[in-house]
Amino acid sequence: MGVVRLGRFRWWHIDEVLPIEADLFGAEQWSPAMFWNELANGHFYLVATPDGGGRVLGYAGLAVAAPDEAWVQNIAVARDAQRRGVGRALLEALLAEAARRGVRSTLLEVAANNGPAQRLYATYGFEPIGVRRGYYQPSNTDALVMRRDQD
Ligand SMILES: CC(C)(COP(=O)(O)OP(=O)(O)OC[C@H]1O[C@@H](n2cnc3c(N)ncnc32)[C@H](O)[C@@H]1OP(=O)(O)O)[C@@H](O)C(=O)NCCC(=O)NCCS
Repeated sequence: MGVVRLGRFRWWHIDEVLPIEADLFGAEQWSPAMFWNELANGHFYLVATPDGGGRVLGYAGLAVAAPDEAWVQNIAVARDAQRRGVGRALLEALLAEAARRGVRSTLLEVAANNGPAQRLYATYGFEPIGVRRGYYQPSNTDALVMRRDQD
């Protein structure tokens, strides 16, 4: 695939990410309104595209919730672009932004049955700190809350 370029997620990317979102998350996919809301709130969102340009391969977002605390809102890589380092690149860029913003703790929720994502997060020092029962609806899947403290 070659090198990936990361750029800011703009409103015109929403239409392009919705089919990826639907494919990956099914009934629990985010609506256009949820993406609009994230962007309107000024959260830090990125899209990954091939270096030479082309379709969106993945996207991710970070919300700085308190002066020193941030939440990874989502991270998603199109099924046919997975396992080639795009998720890593997106997560590293979110963590770099968190560090620039003086964040001490970065947190996230991940489905308790989502082993691949949990492995990715563990690689970057995220540790499980709790469970939110039935957080994902309608599947009623538990969420694992993970936290990573800045060194
Ligand atoms: C989780 C996700 C974002 C990872 O993106 P990706 O581009 O495939 O990940 P990378 O290629 O950067 O892999 C990084 C690491 O994650 C882990 N990982 C990713 N996919 C994995 C899989 N299918 N099985 C096991 N580990 C996996 C591995 O540790 C991997 O490192 P390695 O390839 O050196 O072993 C992607 O699988 C995805 O979009 N999944 C569906 C949506 C989702 O679950 N998002 C997270 C919601 S909280």
